[in-house]
Amino acid sequence: MAKYSKFLMEHFQNPKNVGEISDPDGVSTVCNASCGDIMQMFIKVNGNRITQATFKAFGCGAAIATSSILTERVKGCTIDEALEMSERISKEILSELPKEKIPCFTLVANALKLAIEEYKNKRHEQVQLHGKEEFDSLTMGVLKD
Ligand code: FES
Repeated sequence: MAKYSKFLMEHFQNPKNVGEISDPDGVSTVCNASCGDIMQMFIKVNGNRITQATFKAFGCGAAIATSSILTERVKGCTIDEALEMSERISKEILSELPKEKIPCFTLVANALKLAIEEYKNKRHEQVQLHGKEEFDSLTMGVLKD
């Protein structure tokens, strides 16, 4: 059995941020092809800051512990800071994880990236839609005058 640090064991035994956000701004589902484990990550964003990050995992202890750590650390971060945080944590965590468990953290980091990507895509669509509505109302105004 892989040997984990005390820090990782604490997050595995008492994981933080487990569960679903009912109305997430970004959500992702990823699968580790080598083991078949599945991870879902949810984020809530307000003013470009992550106010809440949660996860659901059908995965190993390493995936659960690193999800707990990542979701804790990205709370309060801007979107860009969260992506940087993910990189920073990966350096920190990878030194603590047994080599064979590194793909488990990659799964978690990818889940966060995809949830953020989904948030950005939704936001982009809203901006385009909102922009179109403004354009339409302006155009209607011009036609009425
Ligand atoms: S063994 Fe599947 S995510 Fe860790």
